[in-house]
Amino acid sequence: MKVMVTGTSGKVGPWVAREFRAQQWDVLGVDLKPPTQADFDWIVADIEDLGQVYGLIARFRPDAVVHMAAIPWPGGAAPDKVFRLNTMTTYNILQACADLGVSKVVTASSESAYGIVFHRHFFNPFYLPLDEEHPLLPQDPYALSKQTGEMTCAMFHRQTGMQAVSFRLGNVVTPDDYANFHQIQADPEDQKTIFWSYIDVRDIGLAARLAVETDGLGAEAFHIAAPDTKMTIPTRELLAKYWPDVKDLRTPLEGYATCLNSDKAERMFGSRAQHLWRQYVR
Ligand SMILES: NC(=O)c1ccc[n+]([C@@H]2O[C@H](COP(=O)([O-])OP(=O)(O)OC[C@H]3O[C@@H](n4cnc5c(N)ncnc54)[C@H](O)[C@@H]3O)[C@@H](O)[C@H]2O)c1
Repeated sequence: MKVMVTGTSGKVGPWVAREFRAQQWDVLGVDLKPPTQADFDWIVADIEDLGQVYGLIARFRPDAVVHMAAIPWPGGAAPDKVFRLNTMTTYNILQACADLGVSKVVTASSESAYGIVFHRHFFNPFYLPLDEEHPLLPQDPYALSKQTGEMTCAMFHRQTGMQAVSFRLGNVVTPDDYANFHQIQADPEDQKTIFWSYIDVRDIGLAARLAVETDGLGAEAFHIAAPDTKMTIPTRELLAKYWPDVKDLRTPLEGYATCLNSDKAERMFGSRAQHLWRQYVR
């Protein structure tokens, strides 16, 4: 089996490539720049250019594409560039896959799509924990690009029947990031708008592989987040202090339970985070 992974010189992509390699998949990593550690096959290409995407897919003939390339926050470039690059790379991947017969794609959306993380005008979520049914209310070009990416997946699914799922990732952490957790935990206010969520890059790789190994997922969006928060204060206490106006709490949120409920991914393709910060931080 062959998978093309985009964004393999970034934070998430290399770990996705490694997960598939470890399970004997042939991997082609694609990025604007070379990877720092080349433990998979890779090629430099600009996937904002549809011709290059067609060329890559026509030659490599992957069974699936995992699309992680993006500008991962609204301040990463001018607003129109963030929107254009994120939406057009997603569109190009999906169009080339649709036309060249690749029937499985995973794309990266974000918890930012709810509009709360990069809000201009503050608002409360309608309820917690967030599930995938909560409305997406973007106030910035990055969040809008993620919402548009999800809608693009849905369009190609309707058009061709292809499986094109979106991962609404929580805040991404690499193994090295655990060294900063004490600092993060000292300032809960700072991570309030991401609801103290996190997901280890290795678990994103695992989720991506499980999703492409599963049939019938359609164009669903899935939270991919650890089941706990980053914090040492219980979730109910955090919410009482930092989100006092959110009254509709739909699960017990006992202990350190996450506010980014990932039950749907577990139910539909067996994904559950394996790497939790307490395993790595004293
Ligand atoms: N980092 C997070 O906390 C986080 C949280 C939620 C969602 N996400 C999403 O996860 C995905 C991966 O994020 P990341 O943190 O690895 O980002 P990153 O910036 O570390 O990596 C993205 C990679 O994409 C590449 N890229 C950008 N434009 C390209 C193009 N036109 N052609 C080819 N390659 C291109 C970049 O060179 C970079 O190596 C993104 O879609 C991001 O929006 C990230």
